[in-house]
Amino acid sequence: MADESLTIIDNRTGEQYTVPVQDGAIHAPELRRLLSYDPAFLNTATCRSAITYLDGDAGILRYRGYPIEELAANAGFLETAYLLLEGELPDAEALARWQDDVRYHTYVHESVTKFLEGFRYDAHPMGMLLGAVGALSTFYPDAKAIDDRENRYLQRVRLIAKLPTIAAYIFRHAHGLPYVLPRNDLDYIGNFVNMTFEIGGRHEANPVLQRALETLLILHADHEQNCSTNAVRSVGSSRVDPFSAVSAGIAALYGPLHGGANEAVLRMLDAIGTVENVPSFVADVKKDHGRLMGFGHRIYKSYDPRAALIKDVAHAVFGETGVDPKLEIALELERVALEDEYFVSRKLYPNVDFYSGLIYKAMGYPTDYFTVLFALGRLPGWIAQWEEMITDPEQKIARPRQIYTGEDLRHYVPVGER
Ligand code: ACO
Repeated sequence: MADESLTIIDNRTGEQYTVPVQDGAIHAPELRRLLSYDPAFLNTATCRSAITYLDGDAGILRYRGYPIEELAANAGFLETAYLLLEGELPDAEALARWQDDVRYHTYVHESVTKFLEGFRYDAHPMGMLLGAVGALSTFYPDAKAIDDRENRYLQRVRLIAKLPTIAAYIFRHAHGLPYVLPRNDLDYIGNFVNMTFEIGGRHEANPVLQRALETLLILHADHEQNCSTNAVRSVGSSRVDPFSAVSAGIAALYGPLHGGANEAVLRMLDAIGTVENVPSFVADVKKDHGRLMGFGHRIYKSYDPRAALIKDVAHAVFGETGVDPKLEIALELERVALEDEYFVSRKLYPNVDFYSGLIYKAMGYPTDYFTVLFALGRLPGWIAQWEEMITDPEQKIARPRQIYTGEDLRHYVPVGER
């Protein structure tokens, strides 16, 4: 029920609209013939969602009501995924069952590995990932039965179980290394790291680095209606299978203004080269109205709480691996930007991608692989949001309107007469 309403008078026609206001939003379809123009959804809520709460002014992020700080400090990644997907933290029995289900599905069909081998040695890992996940829909045609809850559960498990295997195989492909099969005696993160880095049947697990990776994945697990989640929801609204919808999310994440920013930050730090070059680099960004990669956010206007937590993770990781000299450049860049009126007035702060790339690099991942790790983290959020959308009776096929700016009616002229 609407608790308030807004009355709008169209001064051109005298027509009056009384639009219900509910939960701080007007119900735009009630505007009838009056369209709301909102490119890039700056001020449009496209759904009701009970998954992630985000207050951009206060720098608050919660999954299903739990502060991100508590989850990052205490929870496991699969436990967090369960929370996002089921709405509650699992008890010990439910968690064990969920972990078992995922463990049971970690293998990929041999043809998936052949499919991956078709990529060039220098193929971008995100291009490979989105292709491979899209291809999974052909391996599991049963996934089309999206109205069947049990079937959705099976596809959810398949996606979460197989993405690390595919991601590790993409890493091995780029390095010309043989694929390492999943190991059921290892946990989710341990298995992924082992499939990635094992050489000659050996890999010495580093618990600090594994926990750091797990924390990063938790911090990335959902972020309400971000670009890639919106892509998953929008594509999924055509009632396509979840593999196809998730591959659309991976495509959106690939872009440098979204998940691809972690890769772009490292390239930017490379281009800056030394701490002394930071002021002139910042001056150029301002002069050209360019972008400091890893800075700014559509919603966060005070600070990104994930960035604050990631800084702690960076210290833990660098304690193990030694400090990357680029950290000094990043810290100086942050200091200079946060004291500069240009960035302060635009409320630009480091976001989740600013420090994550340096951590991934220290862990041994190549720069073009960083966004794959983001995708591993974001996957439970994509699936949770997709399932919420699929089961929401208010949702229909996503189909925005437009304001036509093209030619008026004109008639075909044969080519010789033009
Ligand atoms: N560096 C310098 N200036 C910036 C930056 C930046 N990183 N981000 C925004 N601005 C400026 C814009 O030029 C604009 O200035 P103007 O008002 O003088 O024209 C103003 O700040 C507002 O910018 P918008 O583009 O309107 O902000 P929007 O909300 O559309 O974009 C985004 C948000 C895409 C994150 C942007 O800040 C950006 O491009 N950042 C760099 C890329 C990045 O780090 N992306 C990762 C985001 S987090 C994530 O997806 C996981």
